[in-house]
Amino acid sequence: MQDPANPVPPNLPNQPASAGLPSHVPPELVVTQWPLNTQEFLAAPYQFMADMHNNYPPVYYGLDPVRSSWGLLKHADCLHVLRNADTFRNLEAVPFPRDKENYFFFIPQEIDPPHHRKYRNIVDPLFSPAGIKKLEGKIRGRVNELIDQFIDDGECEFTLAFGRTLPVSIFLDIMGLPQDMLFTFASWGDEMIHGGSPEVSGAALAKAVEYLTGAIEEKKRNPDDGVISLIAHAEIDGRKISDKEAFGFVCFLFLGGLDTVYATLNNIWAWLAQNPDRVQEIIDRPDTDIDKIIEELLRRFSVVQASTRFVMKDIEIGGVQIKAGDRVNTLLPVANFDPDVFPDPLTVDFDRPRKTTLAFTVGVHSCMGGHLARMEVKTALQEWLRRIPKFSIKPGEKIEYKAGGVIGPDKVPLVW
Ligand code: HEM
Repeated sequence: MQDPANPVPPNLPNQPASAGLPSHVPPELVVTQWPLNTQEFLAAPYQFMADMHNNYPPVYYGLDPVRSSWGLLKHADCLHVLRNADTFRNLEAVPFPRDKENYFFFIPQEIDPPHHRKYRNIVDPLFSPAGIKKLEGKIRGRVNELIDQFIDDGECEFTLAFGRTLPVSIFLDIMGLPQDMLFTFASWGDEMIHGGSPEVSGAALAKAVEYLTGAIEEKKRNPDDGVISLIAHAEIDGRKISDKEAFGFVCFLFLGGLDTVYATLNNIWAWLAQNPDRVQEIIDRPDTDIDKIIEELLRRFSVVQASTRFVMKDIEIGGVQIKAGDRVNTLLPVANFDPDVFPDPLTVDFDRPRKTTLAFTVGVHSCMGGHLARMEVKTALQEWLRRIPKFSIKPGEKIEYKAGGVIGPDKVPLVW
């Protein structure tokens, strides 16, 4: 049983490729490479993921040198996994290397029910729709301050000027951290998610560990109204939260809350810049359409590749036998392109019938920052289009994607 206050590494089976194919895996379902990091994927990620519904078995087994696992493409199969937290657990759900002698869990992501809810209860009120609504003025103000800095230049590199800066600066405010950490935080987040090797990710994580540990200590001495302070002074089951729990919680917010919003903004702006007619359509639509516009953009440009779960009992999915001890990946953006649920899935259609989308996952572990992320994307879209309604990709520049668990173009050079 997990004890988040005194964590030990779970030491689960990994089924590396070198151990051979488990006997229950049909050879015709095997793929030999994680599909969402290949050159073919990086050349056109969203097209590649839509095509997976024609080119891959809906349930495949991905061999991996470290940790082989199943991949699920169908919307219904993903929903089934994500909604059954007893059978599909979050043990080791975050694939970041950690010091085994000084282990910690990423909280709440790696904590299963019933403990999971105790952690979410600490911060959920702040991240609820009502909690985030209170931040709307501040976020809108920050969006405009950023635009003020480059609007007269007639061009910007979107990532640096806006896409990365906005979510990191809002995050620092919410956490109660100083704005002068903005670029340091952004680069740590980038190295952790797109570092390309466990060494680079591990080194970035180590720097974040040191800084966040110090920040938690500081908030214990000098409480404020930021999220780090709230966590540092929280109680779990009538006892004070331990240092390891506080750290694992703060650290996961850092990991989950930065790159995701930036990648989402970058994807959307790259698309808008190449589709002026759709920009005009958004401008022309009534204000009341904004929420469904944001939901469709989040479906079409989902950025988190997969939610990973550890299987607790033998089960069948899509006619395939999956055994206790296996791991499954629900490929969230691929499920969002399931043509049985979202016909013509690559088309951005703001009037689609409302269906469950998986950008933020569903079930127990659905994204805690979903309402914050939606508010950031919404205010950014509204203010940008009000002030810069016509813009395009800078001539001669190409949109390129880099490898990592979060999908987004590296740079988006814009002119207007
Ligand atoms: C567009 C932006 C975002 C996307 C696409 C996104 C996506 C996701 C996804 C897919 C998960 C589930 C992972 C899993 O089930 O394995 C998740 C969980 C989580 N996200 Fe986000 N996220 C975004 C922004 C944020 C922000 C801004 C924050 C916080 C400031 C945040 C905090 C979290 C937390 C704490 C969890 C774990 C929830 C739990 O285990 O109960 N996310 N997110």
